[in-house]
Amino acid sequence: MPDKADNNFSLLSSSGRLELHPPKGILLQPISVDFAGPSFKYRLRRGGGRRQPLARALGLKHGASPLVLDAAAGLGRDGFIIAALGCRVIMCERSPLIHALLADGLRRALEDKELAQAAGRIRLYEGDSRILLSRLVGDEAPQVIYLDPMFPPRRKSALVKNEMRVLQAVAGEDSDSTELLDAAARTDCQRIVCKRPAGAAPLSDRRPDFAVKTPKHRFDVYLHNDS
Ligand SMILES: C[S@@+](CC[C@H](N)C(=O)[O-])C[C@H]1O[C@@H](n2cnc3c(N)ncnc32)[C@H](O)[C@@H]1O
Repeated sequence: MPDKADNNFSLLSSSGRLELHPPKGILLQPISVDFAGPSFKYRLRRGGGRRQPLARALGLKHGASPLVLDAAAGLGRDGFIIAALGCRVIMCERSPLIHALLADGLRRALEDKELAQAAGRIRLYEGDSRILLSRLVGDEAPQVIYLDPMFPPRRKSALVKNEMRVLQAVAGEDSDSTELLDAAARTDCQRIVCKRPAGAAPLSDRRPDFAVKTPKHRFDVYLHNDS
C-alpha cells in the first residue's frame, strides 16, 4: 500500500527505507536517499575537503563555517557535503515526496557512525524556501544561501539520468527559480551561491561576482554583505 502518492508516484517502505516508485508502465527505477552508499561515502572522503570547488564557492577559507541554507535541497547530496565540511545546514525542500525521502535518508545517516556528525548539523524543513527565508531571523538567519534549482538533464550516467528524471517528474521544472534568487538577495546574507550546469546561463540577469568552475558545473557566487 502506498503511504503517499503524487503525480501517481508512490512512497513505499522497503527493507527499512523509503523508496519513491514511478507509476506502472513508466520506464524509471525507484529512488531513495542513501548517504551511506559506497559512492557517496567515497565522495565525502575523497572530495578534496575545503579545497574543493563547492567549499571555495561557499567561502570556507580560513576556517569559516557559516550557517548555510540549502534552499533547493532535492536529494540532499550537496547539502550533506556542506555539512560534512563543518557547516550547520538548513535544508528546505518543497516537494512533500522528496522531503519524505530526504528525511528518511537523514534519519538513517544519524544512525551511521561515519555520517552521524555531519547529519547532526542538518535541520530539514518542508515548504517553499521563499517563505522560510522571511522567517529565518536572528541566530537562525543563514550567512550563505545555496541554490541548485532543477535544470533540464543532459546525457549522463543511467543512474543520474534516472534520479534526475524521477526528481523532475515529481518536483517539476523549478521555472520560478529566479524568484528564489530574488528572495535570497532581499536577505542580509553574506553570499549566494547558485549551482549551474557548465555552459548554462546564470540564473537571472543579475551578474555573479565570480564563478568557480568544474568540468560539469559552475558555482555562480553573488557577494552580498560579504566581509
Ligand atoms: C536539482 S534539485 C536539487 C538537488 C540537490 N542539490 C542535491 O544535491 O540532491 C532541485 C530541488 O529544489 C526544490 N526546490 C526548487 N525550488 C524550491 C523552493 N522555492 N523551495 C523549496 N524547494 C525548492 C525542488 O523541489 C527540487 O527537489
